[in-house]
Parts: sequence; structure tokens; C-alpha cells
Amino acid sequence: MTDLKTTSRNGINMPLVGFGTYQLSTEEAETSVTEALKAGYRHIDSAEGYKNEKGTGNAIKKSGIPRKEIFLTTKLFPGNTQWGVQEKTYEATIETLKNQLKELQANYVDLYLIHAPLASLRLEQWKALIEMKKQGLAKHIGVSNYNEEAINEILDAGLEKPEINQIEFHPLCARPELAQFLNQHNIEPVAYSSLAPLSTWRTAEGQGGEVLAEKKQEEQSVINEVANDLNVSEAKLLYRWGLQKGYGILTRSSKPERIRQNIEVFDFSIPDNQMQRLNALNKNQPFAWAANGLNPMESAPSLQ
Ligand SMILES: NC(=O)c1ccc[n+]([C@@H]2O[C@H](COP(=O)([O-])OP(=O)(O)OC[C@H]3O[C@@H](n4cnc5c(N)ncnc54)[C@H](OP(=O)(O)O)[C@@H]3O)[C@@H](O)[C@H]2O)c1
Repeated sequence: MTDLKTTSRNGINMPLVGFGTYQLSTEEAETSVTEALKAGYRHIDSAEGYKNEKGTGNAIKKSGIPRKEIFLTTKLFPGNTQWGVQEKTYEATIETLKNQLKELQANYVDLYLIHAPLASLRLEQWKALIEMKKQGLAKHIGVSNYNEEAINEILDAGLEKPEINQIEFHPLCARPELAQFLNQHNIEPVAYSSLAPLSTWRTAEGQGGEVLAEKKQEEQSVINEVANDLNVSEAKLLYRWGLQKGYGILTRSSKPERIRQNIEVFDFSIPDNQMQRLNALNKNQPFAWAANGLNPMESAPSLQ
């Protein structure tokens, strides 16, 4: 079997299991990233929009782990006029990463992503990412929530291609055509919200996991049966599904015990027949942004 622990695609030395920090306060980000680093995670995923980069930076600094041993990702919030947030220009994009580096207390990030194609200035923002890679502020650059059309805009403009695309991927949102497209273009897929099909996903007050809950009820019994057949938790099953599809995955929990459990995904595998049962659940249904009232992959305004 191919190595499911790290990838070297596009020259990126990235641990395939990462720890995400969405919906954590600054304090929770610090304690959770501290736990994650203790548990052995060496890939941390942050974002300007999570408003907690300081906590992540504190945890990394206090861990004493050499910076070069941690793969640190963060993302640009591109702006979104629908939400009344000004679109970032080329200069503002560069300024934003510099400010994020201060919060993260780092000289560089390993990966910088445009969080979603929500701005008409997205090609200008992409050019700024290319420049920041040249300057060494970001070792690698990529996008998130970009569909084929948004990626083709970059390729058609003759610009350097994204190295990574971070996407909502799980059995109910498998997007086989996009996965194939990424493969053809040698763009590494990283899956987020792997646990969105579960009833335990985003249940704390204000996390929004109840939105569209009716769209996953039927499939939950199949996920439960497969997990029982393999004698693993449903969470472990879904994270492992992403790895076996060839994706990096991002886990996330505010609970130390779960943080430790969620990285233990290498002691079993999902046999082909059970992968097929899970794959048959696909209906290209995203959940992660639903509480914000939009599907980020279908919200790109016309290019400016
Ligand atoms: N680029 C984007 O647009 C985008 C969008 C969404 C997410 N992301 C990234 O991807 C990361 C992961 O996605 P996500 O935050 O949606 O997380 P996730 O890993 O899909 O699920 C986390 C949720 O599941 C619960 N959970 C965690 N471990 C569990 C377990 N072992 N058993 C049962 N329930 C469990 C957590 O609750 P507790 O905290 O109570 O354990 C939390 O509510 C994010 O943190 C972020 O870094 C990126």
C-alpha cells in the first residue's frame, strides 16, 4: 500500500493527518494544539478567519518542538462583498500574511491557501501568493474550496498552479469528478470536515451542526454498520476513508481523548467491499459552510 503517513507530491513533505483549529477560541486553540502536538500531530491547520492564530502560535512556541518539524498551514480570508467584507487586493494579501505570521510567531508558513474563491480579485490574490512563495514567507501555496472552473482560471492565466486544494470530502460529499481533475493536474487534495456525516459533528452551542442534519440521517445507519463490522469508531472509519482515497485529512476536537484517538488511524484498513459501500453513499452534499448560508464552491463572483 502507498504511504498514508506523509506525502512528497509536488515536493511537499506533509504529514497526511493534520489537526484543524476551526471553531476553537484562542485559549482552546492553544490547549488543543498543545494536546495535538503531544499526541504526535506535526501538521496544524489554521486560518485568518478562525481568529485564533495567536493560540496556535503560543502552543507551537511553548512545545519546544523545532519549527522545521511542524507543517503549519494558514489561509487568507479573501473578502466577500456579500458579507460586507472588503476584497483583499494584491498588497493587502501580502500584508495579511505578514500579520498572520506575527500572530503565529513564525517566520514562514509551510502552506498558504486562499480560503475560498469568494472574491472577484482572486487572480490578483493568487499572484500575491506566488510572490510570497518567492520571498519564502510561504513554502507552498494552494487554494481551498476551488472547483474545476476556479482552478482553470489560474491555469488559463498561465500562472503557477496551486499545489494543494483543501476541500470538503467524505462519503456523502465525495465529488469524484473534482477528485479526478485534481489527480490529473497533480494537485494534492486535503479533506476537511471528514466527520460531517455524523450526529456528533459540531454539536456544541452555535457550531451549526444541526443545519441540513436531515440530509444525512439515512446514510448514518450504513456508516454505523460498516464501523461495527470493522470494530472501529465511526470517526476513525471516516478519517481512514479519506486517507484510503488518497487525501490528506484534518481532524479536529476540543477533547484531549478524542485528539489522541483521531490520529490512531493506521492500525486498520477498510477492505474494498466496505469502501464500495461507503462510496455508494455519495450525493455531493456539502455541510461545512451550510450554517453560513453558502456553498463556497458555487459562490465565486465574476473575475475582475
Ligand atoms: N477550508 C475550509 O473551508 C474548511 C472548512 C471546514 C474545516 N476546515 C479545516 O478542517 C478541520 C476539520 O474540519 P472540522 O472542524 O469540520 O472537523 P471534523 O474533524 O470533521 O469534526 C469535528 C467535530 O466532530 C467532533 N469529533 C471530533 N472527534 C470525534 C470523535 N472521535 N468522535 C465523535 N465526534 C468527534 C468534534 O467535537 P468535539 O470538539 O466535541 O470533540 C467536532 O464537533 C477544521 O478544524 C479546519 O482546520 C477547513
